[in-house]
Amino acid sequence: MAEPEIRVHADADTLADAVAAAFVEAVARPVSPGRTGAQVHEVALTGGSIARAIHRTITRLAPAAGVQWSRVRLWWGDERFVASDSENRNVLQAQRDMLDALRALPSGGLPDDNVMPVPSSDEVADVEAAADVYSDLLRHEGTGAFDLVMLGVGPDGHVASLFPGHPAAAITDRIAVAVRDSPKPPPERVSLTFEALERAERVWFVVAGTDKAEAVARALADEGSVTETPARGVRGRTETVWWLDREAAAALRR
Ligand code: 6PG
Repeated sequence: MAEPEIRVHADADTLADAVAAAFVEAVARPVSPGRTGAQVHEVALTGGSIARAIHRTITRLAPAAGVQWSRVRLWWGDERFVASDSENRNVLQAQRDMLDALRALPSGGLPDDNVMPVPSSDEVADVEAAADVYSDLLRHEGTGAFDLVMLGVGPDGHVASLFPGHPAAAITDRIAVAVRDSPKPPPERVSLTFEALERAERVWFVVAGTDKAEAVARALADEGSVTETPARGVRGRTETVWWLDREAAAALRR
């Protein structure tokens, strides 16, 4: 697994611009033929505020970027188990910030079939069913691995919806799990497991704000437990980048 590389930017806006530019550059590249004959870039997006800023910048860059979005398939590292029209849905936020614009591009737009949302509470009976459906979707539609996984990090060191000490974070024999009683509202979520997240060639943590500084320091410390700081538990096979603003990097040893 790739050792973490730390990239610090002045503030959240310049951080979002840098990540968006790197993202567009990554998905504009030809698909690496070596991975299971994959024909698309398999990408897992994240929810959260810095992710929304990144998505809005990708929207700004997309018209001139020359990306064949038909070669990009978008999954989510986690999703809130709420109604499909709820403002809390990560995919709805991404639609508003990016996906609608990518679909509307005059050429090379994003096909609807390339957006792979987690089922919502008005589509399946309960959060366990949503996790089962998403696991099957990943297994049968996906290639079993990701070219790029983007992850926000919580003040407690959670990634996706894998929270410190939460039983769902300890599940290893699944691709996606149901999370109940999430410490971050809303309470019911579906999350990829560590096992699924680790099937990533590249992992990008995207973190901004003073309230994340301690979690970032714990995640990157020489010692520590994944149970206490889940962000310690994910690395890319070929690349692990911590995209930080100065505030989120403030507690790192110089
Ligand atoms: C979610 C996110 C979650 C988020 C972190 C950071 O669905 O809530 O996936 O893991 O990325 O909590 O969120 P912020 O960037 O808003 O602090």
